[in-house]
Amino acid sequence: MKTEMFAVDPADPDPRVIERCASLLREGRLVAFPTETVYGLGALADDETAARAIFVAKGRPSYNPLISHLPDVGAARALATAWSESAEALARAFWPGPLTIVVPRAPSIARVACGGLDAMALRVPDHPVALALLRATRRPIAAPSANRSNELSPTTAEHVRQQLDGRIDAILDGGPCRVGLESTVVDLCGPTPTVLRPGMITVDQLRAIVGAVHARAPLVTRDQPRTSPGMDVKHYAPRAKLSLATRAELQRVIEQRRGKIGVITVGDARIERGATVVHRPLPSDAEGFSAALYGALHALDDVGCDEIVCEQVPDGALWDAARDRLTRASS
Ligand code: TXA
Ligand code: MG
Repeated sequence: MKTEMFAVDPADPDPRVIERCASLLREGRLVAFPTETVYGLGALADDETAARAIFVAKGRPSYNPLISHLPDVGAARALATAWSESAEALARAFWPGPLTIVVPRAPSIARVACGGLDAMALRVPDHPVALALLRATRRPIAAPSANRSNELSPTTAEHVRQQLDGRIDAILDGGPCRVGLESTVVDLCGPTPTVLRPGMITVDQLRAIVGAVHARAPLVTRDQPRTSPGMDVKHYAPRAKLSLATRAELQRVIEQRRGKIGVITVGDARIERGATVVHRPLPSDAEGFSAALYGALHALDDVGCDEIVCEQVPDGALWDAARDRLTRASS
């Protein structure tokens, strides 16, 4: 399959390009597009055949459900069969934005898109290109991160091309993603909202809106039964083996490694540079670090690092998302 490449100005996306991508989607095809978190691999969420094609292109296990994207709160409310007060309150507080809510499945959303579950995940993304595409398509768009299963999520169109060129119909380039880590996923099907995946909207921000929120269900290893999908420990990993180290351990850990070593630090750090060390200092604030993390991991993979050593991130809820992805990638 030939993958068509389109590019738009994210501040002012050309309506003809948006319409071309929307018509591909309406034909049941796969189009990768930018959101504020990461690039998504889009297909019609209410079309079994289109949604199934996402799993094939990504090599994603069929039990791992997809997020359905909508253009606004009203569209989500209209779609849902059960729309609780918590759903309304969270949607109003955080949409458009990096929050996904899991609610009882509506019959119009394809069963395959929900991994066969009786629940569906909904999100209104905060990105002008994603919103323009959703409005033009006039159907919910299922979109997991636009990477091969178990590889790193893409934060640029080039990252998507490297993993999915020839496997999908089109890539819509709208520049780099602002947030850089996947949305917070909160399950609203039980008596108390439960965070299934931490993101840049923290548990404290959720509690400020809906009161009690369970911080998260524990991660599971491959052979344990899963309480919810998408919670495998190993996930979001670069090709190079990743390990974590405190600032104090960093130099010693680097010296123990063989081959070409990538090093990521929280803010600048003095690393005794051997010829084989590639150092990528990232911003020392949680938002800046999170926005740049996947880009740095992709870049270190691309220059052929055998191993990557990343400095452990600080404590605190704002770092939960980065800590979660790094812990999983290093497991
Ligand atoms: O920021 C994001 O969320 C990006 C952009 C493209 O919107 N999408 C994304 O999708 O990260 P994906 O498929 O890589 O991750 C979706 C997560 C998975 O952990 C999945 O298990 C969970 O959402 N999820 C989806 N539907 C669910 C459901 N019905 N019940 C429980 N978890 C669900
Ligand atoms: Mg993903």
